[in-house]
Amino acid sequence: MTEHTAASPSKLVDQARALLSGQADKIANAANLAALLFHELEDVNWAGFYFLKDNQLIVGPFQGLPACVSIPLGKGVCGTAALSREVQRVADVHAFTGHIACDINSRSEIVIPLLLDGEVIGVLDLDSPSPGRFDENDEALMVEIAEVYLESIDQ
Ligand code: SME
Repeated sequence: MTEHTAASPSKLVDQARALLSGQADKIANAANLAALLFHELEDVNWAGFYFLKDNQLIVGPFQGLPACVSIPLGKGVCGTAALSREVQRVADVHAFTGHIACDINSRSEIVIPLLLDGEVIGVLDLDSPSPGRFDENDEALMVEIAEVYLESIDQ
């Protein structure tokens, strides 16, 4: 994983914690975290958030090309992560039935469900132009980063 991450994984977690500390606004922290991930991780073409509203995921702060605005719960990689409450780590998005292509260059994707007090509030989504970009170490890192985000915000 180190070759995919400009900073070391623990440094990235520390950077995220420092960036979000002292601010509890959900949108502000999502915006800064999306920017941090997009610029610190290598081989990533989209990094950002979708938030749950009326059974749809609505796009939140992100870095990358313009994205689909709403995703029904259960649809696509993001909707599947939100409905199942399980991380979706997809090595080849073309092989994922129902994958929603926002950027045609995306070849692999990881989506972390965001749970606050047992409720899904949204997802953290990363896309890469390389197949199989995200391994189990990236998954553990993104779960930790999502945790830093969830601990930082008020609801
Ligand atoms: N590919 C996602 C849609 C969001 S974009 O990747 C930014 C999906 O299938 O849910």
